[in-house]
Amino acid sequence: PPGTDPPRAHARLLPGSPRYLLYDVNPPEGFNLRRDVYIRVASLLKTLLKSEQWALVLPPWGRLYHWQSPDIRQARIPWAHFFDLPSLSKNVPVIEYEQFIAESGGPFIEQVYVLQSYAEGWKEGTWEEKIDERPCIDQLLYSRDKHNYYRGWFWGYEETRGLSVSCLSVQGSASIVAPVLLKNTSAR
Ligand SMILES: *[C@@H]1O[C@H](CO)[C@@H](O)[C@H](O)[C@H]1NC(C)=O
Repeated sequence: PPGTDPPRAHARLLPGSPRYLLYDVNPPEGFNLRRDVYIRVASLLKTLLKSEQWALVLPPWGRLYHWQSPDIRQARIPWAHFFDLPSLSKNVPVIEYEQFIAESGGPFIEQVYVLQSYAEGWKEGTWEEKIDERPCIDQLLYSRDKHNYYRGWFWGYEETRGLSVSCLSVQGSASIVAPVLLKNTSAR
């Protein structure tokens, strides 16, 4: 079955391959909010594409609270099940997670950013857009395994692991993440 290859060395990306943006949404959120977040992330991708080649990796569907049919398998569901990918790709380049694994050569995600609010909360007065690396506020949903890889919920792909996890306090629209992805990390 797909996705059960033995672990390989770190991603062997071909020269000239795009950088990949993967994302996820807080587990309790339902279909409609996830569809809405897609629009915002696609907008972020458009900003990134002005500087570099990127591809958006669509987060597999599964385990939604409203999906209460235990007789139907609800994990690792590709976006093509609900959406027309050639149409989505007319806006920004999108690929399924399985294609990301095939292209990137290994189920590793180099950098995971957990987006959070600011610990000090919302200051009265002028609204400003900002983003800063900060200590994680909530307990991390990822934990290190004996090889020092981060394990956690990666859309039901048990063999997927993260190499680095950090937390970003963010206040702003989706594109505020763009400079961080373009300038603060070389993760592909
Ligand atoms: C990104 O790098 C700039 C320049 O080094 C630094 O000032 C800024 O704090 C960094 N931002 C994040 C979110 O790491």
